[in-house]
Amino acid sequence: NNYVLIMAGGVGSRFWPVSRSSFPKQFIDVLGTGKTLIQTTYERFTRIVSPDHIFIITNEAHVGLVHEQISELPKENIIGEPMMRNTAACIAYASNKINCINPEANLVVAPADHLILDVDKFVHDIKEALYHASNDWLITLGIRPSRPDTGYGYIQYVEKDTALKKVKIFTEKPNLELAKTFVQSGDFLWNAGIFIWSVKSILNAFEQYQAEMYELFNEGCDHYQGPKAAAFIANAYTRCASISIDYAIMEKADNVYVLPTDFGWSDLGTWASIYELGTKDEQKNVTHPTHRIVMRNSTNCIVNVPLNKLVVLSGLNDYIVVESNDTLLICPREDEQSVKEIVSEVKEKY
Ligand code: GDD
Ligand code: MG
Repeated sequence: NNYVLIMAGGVGSRFWPVSRSSFPKQFIDVLGTGKTLIQTTYERFTRIVSPDHIFIITNEAHVGLVHEQISELPKENIIGEPMMRNTAACIAYASNKINCINPEANLVVAPADHLILDVDKFVHDIKEALYHASNDWLITLGIRPSRPDTGYGYIQYVEKDTALKKVKIFTEKPNLELAKTFVQSGDFLWNAGIFIWSVKSILNAFEQYQAEMYELFNEGCDHYQGPKAAAFIANAYTRCASISIDYAIMEKADNVYVLPTDFGWSDLGTWASIYELGTKDEQKNVTHPTHRIVMRNSTNCIVNVPLNKLVVLSGLNDYIVVESNDTLLICPREDEQSVKEIVSEVKEKY
């Protein structure tokens, strides 16, 4: 009864300009491992369920790309969305669809773009969480925070001897001040953004906390197949609010549990995450060894440019320098969360 839903519909805007809406980062070999992020994510889950129990949800425009990159996945397991409505809609849609296949399903919901170093531990923890999914719990995995990152959800739990702990507060993307307080207090975890629950429990939570969205998608299984399915989904998405599952459900529900874990996790969400993972030179710069890059008096920078480019950095500290195709971005590392806003500004103008 176990199923996996991989969410792959984001555009990775904080990874701009390497990640573009036409070619988001989950379809790129960001880490130079020879596999794209979504391929690695998919392979990890084949250790937990069989391919026919893995679903990938992405924008309609990228269904072909998913099929190309993961050809062994049954075509009907790739769910196309007519437009971007953030993760709540994507989970509501897929959960209803899976509910029609198997109303007793337990579901692991995971992003397509995370780095996980200790896959054995990951597999073990997911199985442990799945074991508890039938308790009507909304389970998330929690990671010990290493910095006051404002791009994550923060979780405070009630201390118990059991592996899974009841969540007291879930705060999505706090401001920097609050994030600092959370990290200093020592009893908050980062939400890893990987959720485990039964389809029944998450649909109940939608009914309770997002009644409108629940109604839009809860029209019976005949709407999820056959010729009228596309029109039904397009209509639901057009009318549906754009909100993430964290704000929509996790902050509100009172049956949230966390499994504290540590499997070498990183959300490859921003340039800083690549900086943290990258091999640093003596001046703490992260560049590519085969690139022609000259660093003069420059420290703590991350440089990511095409191979044919000769780059000179002089007197720059804590900078991001990224070039892709026709676009060059230079900004201070502390502005990494604003890359998202920069992208919308750029889109308005060009
Ligand atoms: N199909 C689909 N449709 N997928 C989407 C959509 C959508 O509209 N929007 C986002 N996604 C996918 C992204 O591709 C990514 O794999 C995943 O859903 C999460 O979206 P992000 O946009 O990366 O979320 P986040 O990183 O800002 O925040 C979430 O993850 C953090 C940990 O990485 C939250 O759950 C935070 O609480 C959490 O700390
Ligand atoms: Mg993310």
